[in-house]
Amino acid sequence: MFGWFKAMSTTGAGGDLVPWSDNYLLGIKTIDEDHRNLFEIINRLHDAFHKRQGHQTIKLTFNLLTEYVSEHFAREEQLMGQINFPGLEEHRMLHAGFIQAFFSTKQSYIVAPKAFDFESFLDFLRKWLVHHVLVEDRKYVQHVMKEDDES
Ligand SMILES: [Fe+2]
Ligand SMILES: [Fe+2]
Repeated sequence: MFGWFKAMSTTGAGGDLVPWSDNYLLGIKTIDEDHRNLFEIINRLHDAFHKRQGHQTIKLTFNLLTEYVSEHFAREEQLMGQINFPGLEEHRMLHAGFIQAFFSTKQSYIVAPKAFDFESFLDFLRKWLVHHVLVEDRKYVQHVMKEDDES
C-alpha cells in the first residue's frame, strides 16, 4: 500500500526530523509499519519545508495524514477492543484529540495559507507522535503481552 510512497521518499540534506529507530518498535507488525509510515510523512514535509517547497507539499501531507491516521487509529482501536484493553476509552480520546487538533490546523491553512506556521505544525506532529508511540501505544502492547502470558 505504501510502496509508491516509499519509492518517492528521500532524506533531506538536514536529516530527518524524526529519524526512525528500533526503539519505536512495539512488536506488532502492522502497527509498526503504520508508525513508520507516519514518521515518513512528517519527514517528507520537513524536508520539503527546508527546500522551500512547503506549500507544494502540505496538501499531500494533509491528505496522507487524514487517510493514514484514521486508518491507523481504527486499527489500534479494533485491536484494543479485541484484547479488552481497559484503557481503550482513554486511548480513543487521545486519538480524537489528535484528529481535532489536526483538522483545525488544516482549516487554518485553508483560511490563511501565507500565515501558516510550518515549524510549529511539524513540532506538534513530532512531539505528539513520539510521545504517543513511546508511551501511550506501549500501554496496550504491554496488555497484549500480558494476555499472551496468561493464556
Ligand atoms: Fe499508534
Ligand atoms: Fe494510539
